[in-house]
Amino acid sequence: MSLAKQVAGCKAVDYVEDGMIVGLGTGSTANYFIDELASRIQSGQLKHIVAVATSQASFQRARQLGINVLPLDEVNSIDLLVDGADETLRTFTGIKGGGGALLHEKIVAQNSLKVIWIVDESKLVEQLGAFPLPVEVVQYGSWKLFRKFENAQMKPQFRKSGRDSLFITDSGNYIIDLNLGMIPSPDQVSFQLNNMVGVVEHGLFINYPDLIIVGDNQGEVSLIERD
Ligand code: A5P
Repeated sequence: MSLAKQVAGCKAVDYVEDGMIVGLGTGSTANYFIDELASRIQSGQLKHIVAVATSQASFQRARQLGINVLPLDEVNSIDLLVDGADETLRTFTGIKGGGGALLHEKIVAQNSLKVIWIVDESKLVEQLGAFPLPVEVVQYGSWKLFRKFENAQMKPQFRKSGRDSLFITDSGNYIIDLNLGMIPSPDQVSFQLNNMVGVVEHGLFINYPDLIIVGDNQGEVSLIERD
């Protein structure tokens, strides 16, 4: 699996050009992108790259590798965001947030001129929903939301961090994962969640990437491009 992620991550660096402001995604696939980007900067192949990160984890990793990472509000627009996904359709809609960074990932995506998703082939699905849908919620009243999800048969689970404590996002919120099994209409679920007070953001990314790079276990990549 990691070869597939690695080739997808490394391929995405080919789309980075000198002088770009680059968005760094979060997760194990995005880490391959960050590592390869750093190595091309170190070797002098890429110059004057400024980055913004979608999580503290990616920020730390990139900084340690010598990438110039700035806070989001210190850059204008982002030229290119490269990020992973948990599931994606060929129609450029997917689920993200398995690593808990969905809110910052969506904010950076909305401020990026181009978005590339890098995935291994297991992430490419015919229908979304086998992967639990992460929903970021404010802490206050989160049990009330949990009960609402239960009553709507959405099979909620608070995201845990270790055995006893709840996972806290980079913005200080909780995550409730919804075990929907299948999501025949992502638009409908997105609309429903967007209208619940206390929901900060959800992991349905509808019509986001401009390009999906799919890596396989033989070390090959294929591209899903828009017409
Ligand atoms: C982070 O919150 C997620 O959106 C990741 O992009 C997603 O979970 C993919 O992670 P991996 O690359 O580790 O599979």
